[in-house]
Amino acid sequence: MSYYKEMRILGYSLKHHLRAVIFSTKVGRALEKRILQLLPVPDFSDSPVSYLPTVKAILNGFSIFEPGQIQYLSALEIGTGRHLAVPLILRFLGMREITTVDAQDMLLIGQIKSMAFAIANNPELISFARSHQADVDEGRALFASLEAEVTMKSLLNRLGIRFISNVDLRSTSAVSALECPVPDLIFSNNVLEHIPANHLTKILLSLSRVFVNKKQLHIVDLGDHFADVMPDLHPLHNYRYKSLVWTLLSDNRYLYTNRLTLTDYDSLLQNIGVEYNIKVIEFLQGEEYEIMRSFVASEFIGKKIGATRLEIDIN
Ligand SMILES: C[S@@+](CC[C@H](N)C(=O)[O-])C[C@H]1O[C@@H](n2cnc3c(N)ncnc32)[C@H](O)[C@@H]1O
Repeated sequence: MSYYKEMRILGYSLKHHLRAVIFSTKVGRALEKRILQLLPVPDFSDSPVSYLPTVKAILNGFSIFEPGQIQYLSALEIGTGRHLAVPLILRFLGMREITTVDAQDMLLIGQIKSMAFAIANNPELISFARSHQADVDEGRALFASLEAEVTMKSLLNRLGIRFISNVDLRSTSAVSALECPVPDLIFSNNVLEHIPANHLTKILLSLSRVFVNKKQLHIVDLGDHFADVMPDLHPLHNYRYKSLVWTLLSDNRYLYTNRLTLTDYDSLLQNIGVEYNIKVIEFLQGEEYEIMRSFVASEFIGKKIGATRLEIDIN
């Protein structure tokens, strides 16, 4: 790999280590959120479509799902993030009982409004909603009315989405202490890869014990998250590094990913003893796969690598 690329990766990593230190306290986090609120709101026009595969997987996950019935179903999301993309699409389709939980409060009102606008005006989303017998006019009116909301509380109330922040699911009693109705399905999107393996085992086990017989559906992004901002990196560039180097590069709350492979998820779920199924949704092919094999660190040899996106279903 070129010296220039290495330097960019190192620079990006150092910037986020520094950011993590500056904003490590409660006051620091509040200040960071204020700063983020002042930044220009992204235009999410093209984004909603990228969430459709996740939404389709969620709908398929409901054992009794039929078009027109979504209003009677409920879901719990693990790992909210900033803009509520998946809960908003579910709400647009007519779901009324959605809870979303996060260790932090990263929600940004401008981003939620921008995402809602993008969903309500996206032809593919609209036609998908119609094919599911959703009341699109009602959804568009609801999303248009969000513009008038000035506080997060009133915006979430209008949407009927319950947001529970500051719940770190790594703590032992966090799942059982959640104050929400029992959901029909629990899901996460791009979250599991940010949780260390030992905690993941505890969290998935707690979810299956607390919400007995409720399906869990987790979409996991195995790709190198540095490549999201440096598109010239190989999509699985993260497998290049030995563990110690990877820890030095990424061990902060912005950059951490666990680098678990398909093989690791398989054994983790087997150890938990739940009934599960893992689908590889996206994987490398051809030259990209061969390139990865040429650079992969020795600790990954013998493991199933090459998948960039997984769907994990736990029954
Ligand atoms: C990449 S964001 C996910 C964004 C969102 N689900 C989406 O689809 O765009 C990952 C989120 O998971 C949350 N998270 C990570 N570890 C967690 C934990 N142990 N407990 C609760 N939330 C956690 C992070 O705070 C972060 O907001």
